[in-house]
Amino acid sequence: MVSLIPQPHPRERRIIFENISRPGWSNDIDTYVAHGGYEQLRKALGMQPSEIVDAVKAANLRGRGGAGFPCGVKWSFIKRDDGKPHYITVNGDESEPGTFKDRYILHNDPHQLIEGVLIAAWALNVNLAYIYIRCEFPHAAKIVWNAIKEAKARGLVGKNICGSGFDCDIYVHQGAAAYICGEETSLIESLEGKRPYPRIKPPYFPAVLGLYMSPTIVNNVETLCHVVHILRLGAEEYAKMGTPGDGGTRTMCVSGDVMRPGYYELPAGAVTLGELIHDICGGLKPGRKLKAVIPGGSSAKVMRAGEVYKIKVKAQDGTMIDKEVAMEDVVMDAASLAAVGTMVGSGGVMVMDDSRDMVWALNNLNQFYAHESCGQCTPCREGSLWMSKMTTRMMAGGGSANDPATLKNVADNIAGRTVCAFGEACSWPTQSFLAKFPEEFAARSANG
Ligand SMILES: Cc1cc2nc3c(=O)[nH]c(=O)nc-3n(C[C@H](O)[C@H](O)[C@H](O)COP(=O)(O)O)c2cc1C
Ligand code: SF4
Repeated sequence: MVSLIPQPHPRERRIIFENISRPGWSNDIDTYVAHGGYEQLRKALGMQPSEIVDAVKAANLRGRGGAGFPCGVKWSFIKRDDGKPHYITVNGDESEPGTFKDRYILHNDPHQLIEGVLIAAWALNVNLAYIYIRCEFPHAAKIVWNAIKEAKARGLVGKNICGSGFDCDIYVHQGAAAYICGEETSLIESLEGKRPYPRIKPPYFPAVLGLYMSPTIVNNVETLCHVVHILRLGAEEYAKMGTPGDGGTRTMCVSGDVMRPGYYELPAGAVTLGELIHDICGGLKPGRKLKAVIPGGSSAKVMRAGEVYKIKVKAQDGTMIDKEVAMEDVVMDAASLAAVGTMVGSGGVMVMDDSRDMVWALNNLNQFYAHESCGQCTPCREGSLWMSKMTTRMMAGGGSANDPATLKNVADNIAGRTVCAFGEACSWPTQSFLAKFPEEFAARSANG
């Protein structure tokens, strides 16, 4: 019997994809239970809720949805005994271009997610959780609904879970078919049946004023799956797999110009970008040279091959010293990518070789963002459209000499001036492509 994804590369360590890699794996509850499924939920129900929150903190688990916020810190904002209803909303809206890991988990290991949700629910005193699934994943929604039904029939969801006296129901909500629904406050508006306009923070931090104005934890699908393994391995062992401040493994979806694109799961910080491309993904296509990488989903700033970054590192005596790092030597973890001005984001690594036209690539992204802006704030609504119109015009041969400067000006006037982080998400590609590949934009602007 074959497994759903190829057997791991020797440098991989699969915990999230471990089940999916088993030959003959199937997503039903019998198979999940036969491989130790729901044992961590039983363990959790015998623990103090605060012990679970402390373990998630000690594990250094960062959210896998894009922003990388420390999960245990987020959970500690919930006051278990404040007398208010609390909610968990699972973010399965996965629409960031280049990212496709959550769909794989939803399709192939839905019980792993349900177990993570239930452990979080016990820790945070939540009796109702919603799994918000991207509208374009109707098959995933069906699979997860079916898995919830299976778990309910075994007394694992609903009333008196495992005889513990703890109740928690889980519902699937199908998304509203827009990228912005993945932004956590927009997701909450959408769940409430409203138009998905993001809310302003402050005051609408979900952990304070979330779903139905009650404390709510929004976590990504993969983030909640990691919680199961923090309990299974223990926080210390889990944390040790990664780097200080970025514990555990990271799933990566590699796409673009490599010989073996696909899913990989690696301890955080275990490989450099060059090792990921040339060793794990089988290298570039024959005769091609590396040109650029977007390391964390389309919103992450692009990196140019051959770049050398100046970063600060801690010396043995504890002082901070300057160090130079070449692009392919950048380590794939949250801190290292942040230090070179980009981000690990949602794990979508897009590799481009020297056959790629960077104005075309940016235009592709700009058209996406212009289409997906919710339109609530003027800089984002108008700016994303102007950027898209300009790069479309450049591609059509009608660029004018001022276009690169105007594009930069528009992008600079979106970021930091909007209700939600979509403003940054749509500006960063334009800002970084222009800064890193000025000659290609100048060439496309010479026609005006
Ligand atoms: C425009 C936009 C789109 C987003 N889309 C997603 C998404 O599809 N999935 C996701 O998990 N997080 C997405 N996020 C991040 C969420 O707002 C939120 O940070 C995340 O769900 C929190 O979960 P985590 O802490 O487990 O990562 C998006 C953010 C923005 C600004
Ligand atoms: S930044 Fe864009 S997507 Fe976010 S609220 Fe404003 S208009 Fe909507």
